Amino acid sequence: MDTHTVLEWSDRYLMPTYRRQPVAFARGRGVRLWDLEGREYLDFVAGIAVTSLGHAHPAWVRAVTEQLNRCVHVSNLYHIPEQARAAKLLVERSGLDRAFFCNSGAEANEAAIKLARKWAKRCKDPDAYEIVVAHNSFHGRTLATVAATGNPRYQKGFEPLPEGFRFVPFNDLDAAEQAVGQRTCAVLMEPVQGEGGVVPAHPDYLQGLERLCRERQVLFMLDEVQTGVGRTGRWFAFQSYGVRPDVVTLAKGLGGGVPVGAVLAREEVACSFEPGDHGSTFGGNPLAATAACAVLETLEAEGLIEHARRMGERLAGNLRQLASRHPAVAEVRGMGLLVAVDLRADAARVVDACRERGLLVNAVRPQTLRLAPPLVVSAEEVDRAVEILGQALDAVAAVPEAR
Ligand SMILES: Cc1ncc(COP(=O)(O)O)c(C=O)c1O
Repeated sequence: MDTHTVLEWSDRYLMPTYRRQPVAFARGRGVRLWDLEGREYLDFVAGIAVTSLGHAHPAWVRAVTEQLNRCVHVSNLYHIPEQARAAKLLVERSGLDRAFFCNSGAEANEAAIKLARKWAKRCKDPDAYEIVVAHNSFHGRTLATVAATGNPRYQKGFEPLPEGFRFVPFNDLDAAEQAVGQRTCAVLMEPVQGEGGVVPAHPDYLQGLERLCRERQVLFMLDEVQTGVGRTGRWFAFQSYGVRPDVVTLAKGLGGGVPVGAVLAREEVACSFEPGDHGSTFGGNPLAATAACAVLETLEAEGLIEHARRMGERLAGNLRQLASRHPAVAEVRGMGLLVAVDLRADAARVVDACRERGLLVNAVRPQTLRLAPPLVVSAEEVDRAVEILGQALDAVAAVPEAR
């Protein structure tokens, strides 16, 4: 199929939920993607922080292919060896005690919300169902996770939304102290607000929240759907903050591209779920769990977490150098290989100009780019990406915006 036909069929047969860029990819390898016409791109989107091992990593392909040849799906009516192994790997790396597997970030957060309510009914107060969440957050697109998301853009038109979410400004501990009350069962935060523009929590804030949750007998839950599994240069972002959450949600990078979501919880919390309380037909099936195991084992075997930390520093450093000589770059921030660039220019135009020069990045805000390459990215690829971004900024600056 050629790009023209794909665009035409997408336009005609798909629901118009996405504003897609006019490109379609045929294959990838590492940090490179090739479109249907054979043009090469440096992929600094990674399917929005998903393809953590890059495209077609040999160890991951081998593991998934072997599993495809054994069996893909059996049901959680039975024990699943690959799922048990994935749970063990996650528990050992996170310091939490148990895992539940699902298929996406929204599902992981749904499960965490249900778990918090169930825990409160058992351990705190049957009327404690409220969850404190932040403005500018993003937790997913199901009704409950949209209700928990601190951005009206995602909620408008879908009312009535499930109740029980209380919003506070991010990085404001006093506001959280006032919001957490007798009816609160949990606080749910992203350690770095990803969709909100890559905004890291202040260490004092996250540590203060943990203390507050302990004092008021409330669960401290972190949404690490975007930040988890090596992206920030640690297994989990919470490990950089020196906190220990009661519940962590994961997805995106966990399966390396195969849909896998997970909830991790401390023993006392996890055991609030009893048989029949929650489930998922596909969650943790042999294929998905094998993909997760391959990601976790390969990240470790190839030292990719430390590599992500070093490449993240290089990327942010190069971008700061670019900022010092390019007036269009206002600020660079992030953690590990999750980096934002605030612009004094229209981010959508810069995204187009980058793509035309063979670099994929995306806009998380009207004037903010997000860079989240696969964790296998090399120093040369980081340098080349920043070079292309500089050229794209020059090109956008040279052509005034059409009004
Ligand atoms: C922090 C966070 N939570 C939840 C989600 C939702 O994940 P999914 O799209 O897999 O449902 C996202 C997706 O961007 C996210 O960034």
